Amino acid sequence: MTRRDLLRVLGAGAVCGSGSFGQTPPAEAADYTLQIGPVSIELSPKRTVKTMGYNGIAPGPLIRLREGKPVTIEVHNTTNEPEIVHWHGLHIPSEVDGSMEEGTPMVPPGATRRYTFTPAPSGTRWYHTHVSAGRNLKKGLYTGQFGFLYVEPRENPGAYDQELFLALREWDPYMSTGDGGEGSMDAGWKAFSINDRALGFGEPIRVRQGQRVLLRILNASATVLRRIAFAGHSFNVVALDGNLLRAPLSVKALELGPAERVDALVEMNNPGCWILGATSDHDRLAGMGMVFEYAGKPGEPQWTTPDSAPWDYRIFGQTPTASPVGEPLPLVFRKIFAGTHWVDKWSINGKSWPKADPIRVHANTRYHLIFDNQSDEAHPVHLHRHTFELTKIEGVPTSGIYKDVVVVPPRKQIEATLVANNPGPTLFHCHQQMHMDFGFMALLEYV
Ligand code: C2O
Ligand code: CU
Repeated sequence: MTRRDLLRVLGAGAVCGSGSFGQTPPAEAADYTLQIGPVSIELSPKRTVKTMGYNGIAPGPLIRLREGKPVTIEVHNTTNEPEIVHWHGLHIPSEVDGSMEEGTPMVPPGATRRYTFTPAPSGTRWYHTHVSAGRNLKKGLYTGQFGFLYVEPRENPGAYDQELFLALREWDPYMSTGDGGEGSMDAGWKAFSINDRALGFGEPIRVRQGQRVLLRILNASATVLRRIAFAGHSFNVVALDGNLLRAPLSVKALELGPAERVDALVEMNNPGCWILGATSDHDRLAGMGMVFEYAGKPGEPQWTTPDSAPWDYRIFGQTPTASPVGEPLPLVFRKIFAGTHWVDKWSINGKSWPKADPIRVHANTRYHLIFDNQSDEAHPVHLHRHTFELTKIEGVPTSGIYKDVVVVPPRKQIEATLVANNPGPTLFHCHQQMHMDFGFMALLEYV
């Protein structure tokens, strides 16, 4: 048989297959394919993590989309459990958003499903599993099921010489008595990395003096609030959660709650060999860091710990000219202490998911969200399918900061404006996986 004949046979076979089997994927190829299955990540020669991920790697492949250009992503679930993929930060319909609470179908074990949507808004987004894990640390965001999704703007892509996507991550979780002081349980972590390498392993990032490097940083943690710094350099922050600031601002350290993103430009103006990493010495030395090496300047990588000024979103905003208007929508967060060696439960306005009351909104209406944290822990709260603008932080007005996750500090309030402009069931929850799985979730419903 010649190569030509072979191609003809294969071609004919493919046509037959797609015509006769309703369950086989349509002949037209998807733009992206994610296969959920086991991954083995070699963080260092001494530590290989075995977990679940996408396409055999974790983080999963970078999904790069164009704002407004429809895309089809095919998801194969090769695991034994139903799965689901959420496209975090996109304004897309509930049926494809990737949350069963909103009505997106799950992908059964062994099955393939397609998600088709028009990506918007532009910026640094991400994708991740949205199943609940409960006390099973082999599920949900405790696994390696996450990756970057970048939506390119229609115009003005920005100017830089190198672009790096950096996911901050812990691995190998275990149940531990957390530092809540009361002996309740939380996840502890044994290994740390940026992307899939522990500090000191793999190739350094190679830079040249005068380069502008754009870092797109994601805290892909299931549970940990992170502070990071770049020795010898500062971060010129251009976007929070992928949404451009009105004016960039230079800072020495960044803080990111689980699921938050920061885009920052770094001016390479200090030749040498430097570490970017967690300010926590323990976690950085255990792997959460990476080395930047200037051309012609190899050597021992340097670290310096910056002063730890408290993180405050307000420095990125402007003083508002008018006070925000909108129907007040208070959301009060409380902890229900479960007892030593049990996992605490959480409530929003006095109710825990799945018994929570829906938050009712009307389309094309402006709301004044009041996140009122009456607990002693910080919560990275997230609203699906929408972006909100911060209007008050601990009582002080601000404007111009657009987010889809905001960390509400212990016993503090943050206020925001939400324009309800994307009808459909919408999930609101704490992005700390163990809080979300133990009640910290509610559904916003358009009425
Ligand atoms: Cu990033 Cu409901 O999730
Ligand atoms: Cu929380």
